[in-house]
Amino acid sequence: MKSDTNSIVHTAWTSGIVIPGFNIPYLPMMAPVVKALRDCNSFGLIMVARLEWEKFESKGLRAIRDEYEKVKDIKHTRLHLDHVPVIDEDNRLVDYEAIIAEALELGYGSVMIDGSRLPLLENIASTSKIVKLAKGYGVPVEAELGAVMGHESGPLPSYEELFISKRGFTSQDEAKQFVIESGINWLSVAIGNIHGAISAVGRQLEKPKARIDLEQLALLNNAAGIPLVLHGGTGIDSDYIHKAIKLGIAKINVATAIRQPYERLLPQGIPAAQDAVYHTMVELLRNELQIENSANILFKQTSEVK
Ligand code: 13P
Repeated sequence: MKSDTNSIVHTAWTSGIVIPGFNIPYLPMMAPVVKALRDCNSFGLIMVARLEWEKFESKGLRAIRDEYEKVKDIKHTRLHLDHVPVIDEDNRLVDYEAIIAEALELGYGSVMIDGSRLPLLENIASTSKIVKLAKGYGVPVEAELGAVMGHESGPLPSYEELFISKRGFTSQDEAKQFVIESGINWLSVAIGNIHGAISAVGRQLEKPKARIDLEQLALLNNAAGIPLVLHGGTGIDSDYIHKAIKLGIAKINVATAIRQPYERLLPQGIPAAQDAVYHTMVELLRNELQIENSANILFKQTSEVK
């Protein structure tokens, strides 16, 4: 197995292991995230999304990359660029190509373009541009189809209403077309998952418990034929997560679960907040995701780790 991020995610996908991606909205969160991954001998992605330097304190692509260079551990981590929207959660147009081009230059190992607020054909067109760009760097591309809600500042419909109406869920026909025409490597799907709130008023609220439409996921798994990504990983019952892994989910994104303990403990100082992140991470890796020692399985041919 080669040890670039695409091969690692592919191995996870075919071995029924999930790779968690952890968002870093505050730079000091990164060290305890990496330490927990190492101590549990797990493999995960260190991620930053555009909204985390716009609305939180991750500072920017370069600051995250520099922090990563200080704490990284190549048997346990890779650096991923999460959500770069074409239209953001406040309905503003974003210069997504420039942001992703900068990340590629800085050495990010994988990138996400989020055209999910666009109609299908426009999403395909924007995503294809990024696939072409990233190919030049040998870097895999994740894209989203369907609406994983929660980041918007306005009120959401009730979770039950959302789940029952299947509003925004990814359709299998569109998924098939999207994967074929865009050439992406991993597909983020909307199947009942929602993001934790990021608006100033909602940040510390407990996230509603989300469910997964496993039947829809099975259809998407057949239609897409590539590794699938589950965003909104916080607050999904672990039973759903383990069933979802069997149905093609190879990567799961987690932000709120580690951000909230950090923010809660911050008044006691950065070390206390980092400690809270570390303990939450260990619990997550060991008990919820159950991926202790996943690094060993993913890197069986360790000699090829580079
Ligand atoms: P949560 O905040 O629900 O963990 O979602 C994180 C996410 O999907 C980031 O892309």
